[in-house]
Amino acid sequence: MDKIPFKYGKIVAGDNYTDRVDDVRHLYENFLALTNTTIISPRRWGKSSMVNRALEILRQSTEDYVILTMDAFNLNSREAFLEGYAKCVSTGFSKHKELKEFVSDTVPSVIPHEIVVSTGDIFPFELRINLTTGRKEKCFEDILNLTEKMAVRKGKKVVVCIDEFQVVADYEDSLAFQRTLRACWQRHEHVAYCLLGSKYNLMAELVGKPKMPLYKFGDVFFLGKIAAADWFEFVTKRFRDTGKEIASDAVSRLLELTECHSYYVQQLAQLTWFRTRDRAEVKDVEDAFAGLLDQLSMLFAQITEGLTLSQTEFLRGLCDGVTRWNAQETLGSYRVGSAANVKNIKNTLEKKEITTSFPDRIELQDPVYKYWLVHCFFRP
Ligand SMILES: Nc1ncnc2c1ncn2[C@@H]1O[C@H](COP(=O)(O)OP(=O)(O)OP(=O)(O)O)[C@@H](O)[C@H]1O
Ligand SMILES: [Mg+2]
Repeated sequence: MDKIPFKYGKIVAGDNYTDRVDDVRHLYENFLALTNTTIISPRRWGKSSMVNRALEILRQSTEDYVILTMDAFNLNSREAFLEGYAKCVSTGFSKHKELKEFVSDTVPSVIPHEIVVSTGDIFPFELRINLTTGRKEKCFEDILNLTEKMAVRKGKKVVVCIDEFQVVADYEDSLAFQRTLRACWQRHEHVAYCLLGSKYNLMAELVGKPKMPLYKFGDVFFLGKIAAADWFEFVTKRFRDTGKEIASDAVSRLLELTECHSYYVQQLAQLTWFRTRDRAEVKDVEDAFAGLLDQLSMLFAQITEGLTLSQTEFLRGLCDGVTRWNAQETLGSYRVGSAANVKNIKNTLEKKEITTSFPDRIELQDPVYKYWLVHCFFRP
């Protein structure tokens, strides 16, 4: 086991991973059935870790699958997406010769491409295509179909996981591109696509609105938070496994301060663990939290400085628990302007990833930022 029992900022696996048993099983079963899946949750709640877990189980249970994963975060155009997609497909080959033959049979010669052999061990070779010149739109489908062709050629099934899929919504001519994706992917009989995205509203729109091309593309998961009871057990056990203790009211305080936000639970647990010799009490959790708040306060101040007065007022209302923004008394108590302006504020804050709009409520994304606003910024 690791020496330090808590981990954050990376995909967690093994002992660092907890719960989501039903969700993981459900996803695993979707992979077995080759059902496409979209997973949506706000940032840092644990999408990537959960998919990673389901893939681990798939890998252990069968050799019938080739697993391809790609992160679309930095792929800011259709061309970049497809170049990344081709590269991702090439990671499914373990022999240079095999990839070479596949490429010469399947990649149209009009697309500039090469197989690059690296000196490192991780990706000894990869397929690079270049779509930056000329109008390559007619080749888009050929590239998207590489996954199915690979499956058929290898006589295997393929799972393709695309993380940060929400970037697609920002592409120039995004709708047309989504139509192309759908047109190709839905014909693939040996491939399951798993799309992950964080911008809640945007992702929900991409796959949940009947007029959108990817509507009913497959199963849609809205990933919730890990329940307090599961975190409770996890944190207590991880302390115990490393020869330390944590008082039960201290764990409760930790979960209250972090609002069960996956990343922060792990971070605050680690900070508390560091300052604990034998047994952590509520005071240790609070001191650790004060340290964290201190460390983040510059960043929070900077974020807040970048907001307009009405946006800040909106956040003040959110912290006060306002839910009915159009009510007259709300508009009177907070300087947010007209009802129409409130709508703009909501959109901007969501775009800046400060808030998340769920169907029934709006939340601040970052529970520590919320704490800072309430206790350090709004309180004189
Ligand atoms: N099931 C879990 N058990 C324990 N910790 C978890 C779990 N899921 C997530 N975490 C914690 O939360 C952090 C963020 O998780 P992860 O990167 O999987 O989230 P994400 O939703 O993919 O985030 P992003 O939106 O930034 O891509 C992890 O580094 C880990 O500390
Ligand atoms: Mg992720």
